[in-house]
Amino acid sequence: CFRSFYAKQWSSDIRLDGKTAIVTGANSGIGKATAKDLAMRGAHVVLACRDMEKAEKAVADIMREVESASVVAMKLDLADTKSICEFAENIYNTEQSLHFLINNAGVAICPYQTTADGFEMQFGVNYLGHFLLTYLLLDLLKYSAPSRVINLGSIAHLIGKINFEDVNSEKRYHATRAYAQSKLANTLFTRELARRVEDFGITAYAVDPGKVSTEIIRHLRRSLQLFLRTFAFVMKTPAEGSYTTLFCAVTPDLESGGYYRDCAPATCSRAASDDRTACKLWALSCQLLGICWD
Ligand SMILES: NC(=O)c1ccc[n+]([C@@H]2O[C@H](COP(=O)([O-])OP(=O)(O)OC[C@H]3O[C@@H](n4cnc5c(N)ncnc54)[C@H](OP(=O)(O)O)[C@@H]3O)[C@@H](O)[C@H]2O)c1
Repeated sequence: CFRSFYAKQWSSDIRLDGKTAIVTGANSGIGKATAKDLAMRGAHVVLACRDMEKAEKAVADIMREVESASVVAMKLDLADTKSICEFAENIYNTEQSLHFLINNAGVAICPYQTTADGFEMQFGVNYLGHFLLTYLLLDLLKYSAPSRVINLGSIAHLIGKINFEDVNSEKRYHATRAYAQSKLANTLFTRELARRVEDFGITAYAVDPGKVSTEIIRHLRRSLQLFLRTFAFVMKTPAEGSYTTLFCAVTPDLESGGYYRDCAPATCSRAASDDRTACKLWALSCQLLGICWD
């Protein structure tokens, strides 16, 4: 099968029979590859997607490729807190346990848009939506412990800054900065979450998948999209892009709260290791979402 030129290869024969995983944004790219691998290991996988047609197609593809896969599609629009609440309710009604919550969905460098609740789209979907989802599923993660939360970050976090004065870019919007802010927020969230849940047997990991050839480029200029598609062979395939997520899911005794790249601990920016900013962002997120998460 196709392999990119430079991506490090990784494999593990760890089985996940009897385990349950949720992968957000699992109808394409890294999320779909992650869901397929988890299903191959025997896990029951919920594909949490906003478009049910695409989700059902992804389920059919995985079922075709993985013998006796246990995969289901469920509606989740991270750009709408009502949908996130309904999804969590569905999960509590249908699933007995949750061992892996993989907060993978993302939107990148899009024109200015807001979510149903008025949050800037990238901050709202990539970070706040996943923050709320994790909060709502925490009891099931606790009940199923040991369990893991994996948040997709990006190298873009290096140029990120949490703009506390205008976190929703209402005064000024810069698409790349807003993406970087959302990915920095995911990395800070991971750090703070790990600290808060360690007594419950839940661990958390931030993952930089590397440069992966996927549909994440859909909002870039057409010429840039064409360039990236032409040179896709120097990027990782979606399967290769899923390795670090899977590494964080299956590797025993991995340090919680850390940032991982190429299936190994990696250094994140100073801003991403600032506990005061992590705490301040946590409080702001609770305030924006109207929740109390101590
Ligand atoms: N590709 C890279 O080089 C790269 C690098 C660093 C980080 N990442 C991160 O990796 C993650 C996966 O991205 P990808 O590269 O696999 O891109 P992708 O193929 O575009 O996948 C993104 C997924 O997120 C879903 N999504 C977007 N908005 C959503 C919403 N409101 N509610 C629910 N799901 C939503 C998309 O659903 P639709 O199909 O319905 O739009 C899609 O399934 C993202 O968090 C991205 O930021 C990617």
